Amino acid sequence: DPVPVLTIDGPSGAGKGTAARAVAARLGWNFLDSGAIYRALAVAAMDRGVACEDEAALAALAHSLDLVFEAAAVPRTILWGADIGDRIVTEECGNLASKVAAFPRVRQALLEKQRSFRRPPGLVADGRDMGTVVFPDALYKVFLTASAEVRALRRYKQLKEKGIDVSLADLTEEIEARDRRDRERPIAPLKAADGAVIIDSSDLSIEEVIQACLAVARSRR
Ligand code: C5P
Repeated sequence: DPVPVLTIDGPSGAGKGTAARAVAARLGWNFLDSGAIYRALAVAAMDRGVACEDEAALAALAHSLDLVFEAAAVPRTILWGADIGDRIVTEECGNLASKVAAFPRVRQALLEKQRSFRRPPGLVADGRDMGTVVFPDALYKVFLTASAEVRALRRYKQLKEKGIDVSLADLTEEIEARDRRDRERPIAPLKAADGAVIIDSSDLSIEEVIQACLAVARSRR
């Protein structure tokens, strides 16, 4: 039988990252944070002086990306041997990631890397197009949303905890602009996959979101 996959797609700040990681841990499944791959590519582009408009150069860079996710109590993201964990969490990096992610050849270049995470006993995949493009045959699909206000506030608290100083008003604007870009791009736009279970996390605690996702993964298919 094919390795089971639970896809969790949705806009930024819906609580995907936290929930998806916890769901993977509880199921004992592998975990893919696909956004971190696009963020790492953005970091690589900055370091190598590749312009964020240069699709061909970005696609070549994407092919050569030596990226390792180290599973640990505090997971580490290693790009070409260096820990880039602190660099990929910023809102600037998320924005740049969403620019490079709009190029078809960049997405194509990263497809196989993402699919390679599908190993027994299962995979929880977090992103924008996990259920629509990368794992269209996934058994279990969730689309996790929340109101724009709630999402901005969550990101704000997250960044604050990491010691990153931002204004809530700027953050709200940035998040809305990034989501618009993700929803309106012609390739692999952010949208719910056919058959996805839609979960609105606006009034849910993290634990309730985790339980709702676990219920999907345990539903009979
Ligand atoms: O999820 P995260 O905020 O880390 O993603 C950063 C950006 O990477 C998103 O705004 C989106 O443009 C892009 N992305 C994507 N497809 C995915 C995951 C992320 O295009 N599967």
